[in-house]
Amino acid sequence: MPILEAVKPGLTTTESPFIEQARSEGRLYIHQPYELYSEQNHEAWRTLYARMVPKWERYANDQFRAGVSSLCLNAERVPKLEDVNRFLRPLTGFQAKPVSGYVPAFVFFDCLRNRKFPTTITIRRQDKLDYLPEPDIFHDIAGHVPMHTDRHFADTLVRFGECAHTAADVVAGIRDHDERIHALTSIIKAMARFFWFTVEFGLMRGTDGLKAYGSGLLSSHGEISHSIESPEVQRYPIQLEWAVNQSFEIDHYQPLLFVVDSFDHLFRLVDRLESWVRAGRLNNIAPGEPAVNEADLESFLKR
Ligand SMILES: [Fe+2]
Repeated sequence: MPILEAVKPGLTTTESPFIEQARSEGRLYIHQPYELYSEQNHEAWRTLYARMVPKWERYANDQFRAGVSSLCLNAERVPKLEDVNRFLRPLTGFQAKPVSGYVPAFVFFDCLRNRKFPTTITIRRQDKLDYLPEPDIFHDIAGHVPMHTDRHFADTLVRFGECAHTAADVVAGIRDHDERIHALTSIIKAMARFFWFTVEFGLMRGTDGLKAYGSGLLSSHGEISHSIESPEVQRYPIQLEWAVNQSFEIDHYQPLLFVVDSFDHLFRLVDRLESWVRAGRLNNIAPGEPAVNEADLESFLKR
């Protein structure tokens, strides 16, 4: 009888026993059990990475490309977060922090405030490289983390975190329970929308044309070129009042994208977002996506 080699379960999105175990024990913060990655997991990383490189050269903003090189990202194997962090920490103090799954809104923004980026450690299946609704390590490490090497961008993320604290303070001062929940739901939605249209799907005007700085674009080899070249995409200079009231859907290429002038510009917009939270201007924004769940609300109310 041939001896069958045990098939490694791997750290594959939605199929990882290690992650299921952590979740069942209520552990959000975990370590990266590197030895569990299967050869298929590394192969998925290699393929995703190889097809992004030429797209990054053409469509990614300069700070991102500088970040990829200063992090010495491995093109061949899923990176070890401790290696990434060793290069990242001296630049901006940011750290990738492994998590087992969904991070409630306040916890997520508070991590940013502390220069920790909640990072998924699983990777998508090899036969589903093009789209998956949940984040994976390719999106988080190859899409987000290179941006965290830029001082202005890193400071902007911290400002998002401070904005969440302001929101928690503001709603704590609303006596009526229903009114408090209504205002908080609205503020979380506004913050999530603004985050989506900037950190996840933002475009920036540079000296040589439009470039992507949003991680959803920087980790998608199909959408990054579509976002910049396609006549089907509406691209407008960002307006805070528009972005916070604009709903979005996650399961197709974005039809509407907003353009910032610089990361300094983006930082000033988050500043304004915070002043609007403080003034109660975001307590009644337009309804629609994204949904705000119980865990998001609880995270703000019980911070
Ligand atoms: Fe993301």
